[in-house]
Amino acid sequence: MAATILLFPFVLCFLGLVTWAAYRVFRPSAYTGPAAGTAGGGGGHVSVHVLVLGDIGRSPRMTYHALSIAKHGGKVNLIGYLENSPHPDILSNPNITITKLPAAPRRPASIPFLLFAPWKVLYQLYHLTWLLAYGLEPAQWILVQNPPSIPTLAVAGLVCCLRNSKLMIDWHNYGWTILAGTRGARHSLVRLSKLYECYLGRLGHFHLTVTHAMARQLREPPYSITQPMISVHDRPAAIFQPITSASAREEVLRRVIPEKNLVPHLIDGSMRLIVSSTSWTPDEDFSILLDALTQYAAGPEASTPVLAVITGKGPQKEMYIRKIEDLTRSGRLPNVRIRTAFLPFPDYAKLLACADLGICLHMSSSGVDLPMKVVDMFGAGLPVAAYSGYESFGELVKEGENGRGFETAKELAGILASLLSKGGRAELEALRKGAIKEGSRRWDEEWDATVGQIMGFSS
Ligand SMILES: *[C@@H]1O[C@H](CO)[C@@H](O)[C@H](O)[C@H]1NC(C)=O
Repeated sequence: MAATILLFPFVLCFLGLVTWAAYRVFRPSAYTGPAAGTAGGGGGHVSVHVLVLGDIGRSPRMTYHALSIAKHGGKVNLIGYLENSPHPDILSNPNITITKLPAAPRRPASIPFLLFAPWKVLYQLYHLTWLLAYGLEPAQWILVQNPPSIPTLAVAGLVCCLRNSKLMIDWHNYGWTILAGTRGARHSLVRLSKLYECYLGRLGHFHLTVTHAMARQLREPPYSITQPMISVHDRPAAIFQPITSASAREEVLRRVIPEKNLVPHLIDGSMRLIVSSTSWTPDEDFSILLDALTQYAAGPEASTPVLAVITGKGPQKEMYIRKIEDLTRSGRLPNVRIRTAFLPFPDYAKLLACADLGICLHMSSSGVDLPMKVVDMFGAGLPVAAYSGYESFGELVKEGENGRGFETAKELAGILASLLSKGGRAELEALRKGAIKEGSRRWDEEWDATVGQIMGFSS
C-alpha cells in the first residue's frame, strides 16, 4: 500500500513528461506574422481561415465575409462542405482558396441518433483538427460561424491556442435553441449542448452578432461573454435591386409567372402579387398564411384578387399542396390563387422586385436572430408583412415604415385586406419607399465600418 502511494508522484511525473515530449514533437507551427488587427494600408498580410461546418454554397454570410476580406487584399481560406456551387465571385477570386471538408457520414435509418451522433462528431473532430492544426498554414484569424457549434467551437478554440491565431466567432444563432426545437428544451442533449456553447463561446477573442439583441444576450448569463463584441446586420446581396421601370417589370412577369393570362391583371393592378419563400419546415408555420388567405377571401367586401407565389423546397411541401388543392376545390379561396415554384436565384430576386407585398413566416428559435429573406426583400424594394413575435424583430422591420408585423392569421388577414385594397394604395406606396430606403445600405458599407476596422483594414 505504502509503496503504491510512493510510486504515485513518479507515475504523474512520467505522464507529464510523455505529454510534454508529445507536445514538442507534434506541436503545430504557430503564426508569427504581424499582430491581428494591424493590416496596414494594403492589407496584404491579413490571413483568415473562414470556417463553416456547412455547405459553402448555402452560407451567404460567410461568403460575404470571405469576399470582403479578399477585396481589401487579405488572404482567405474558406473551409466548408462543397454541395451546392459556391458564389461565382468566390470561385474566381485569386485571394480566396476553398478547402473542402470531407462530407460528414450520413446516418443509416437503422442506427439510432444517439449512437450515431457521437461517431459523427468524432469524425468531424478528427478531420477539422488535423486540417486546422497541420493541414493549413497558421493564420492571423480564424473566423468561425456558430451554429453549428459542435465540434467547431472546441476545435477552433484549441487551434487558436496552439497556433497563436485570434478567434472571431460570428454568432448567427444558438445551436442549442435549434436543437431544442426538435428535441424539446428539457432533453439532456439540449442541456449539454447549451453548457458546451456557453463555456466554449467564451474562447473567442472577438465576437460578431447578427442583431443588437443577440449581443445584449451574450453579455448576460449563461453566456457571460466579456470580450469585445459588435453586431453586423445582414445586408442584401447586390443581386437584389428594386425595379422601377414598368416595361422591365412587365418583362419579368411575363417570363416568371406561369399563367400568362394573369399577367395583364398584375400589370394594371387589378390583381395583386404577394410572394413568400419558405423552407416548408415545422419552424415556419405555413398554415398561418393559408388561414389568413382563406379569411381574406371570405372578407366582407369583394376582396381584390390575389396571386400568391410561394417559393422554396422542404419536407412539408407536399402536405400543404394537398391542403391548398382541397381549399381551392371546396371554393374557399375565391379570388385567391396560390402557386408554388422553385426559381433560379436571379429570377427569384427579380420576382421580389415585381411583387406588391412580401410575406415572412420566420419564427426565431432564439428570439434574437433575423430572417435573411426579409433583408433580401428590402434589397428588392419590397415591403413586408412578417411574423413579429420575437425580440429582435424591430431591428429590421419598422412597423408602418417598411412593413407590418402580425402574430396570428387573423392579424395577417387584416393587413392583407387593408394593404391590397384600393384604399390601401397610398400606405403600401409609403411602405415601399421605406423598404427601398432600408435596403439601400449594403453589405460593404456595414462590413467596412465593423469587421474591416477590427481586422485593421483602413477604409
Ligand atoms: C486580391 O488582393 C490584392 C492585394 O493583395 C488586391 O489588390 C486585389 O484587389 C484583390 N483581388 C480581389 C479580386 O479581391
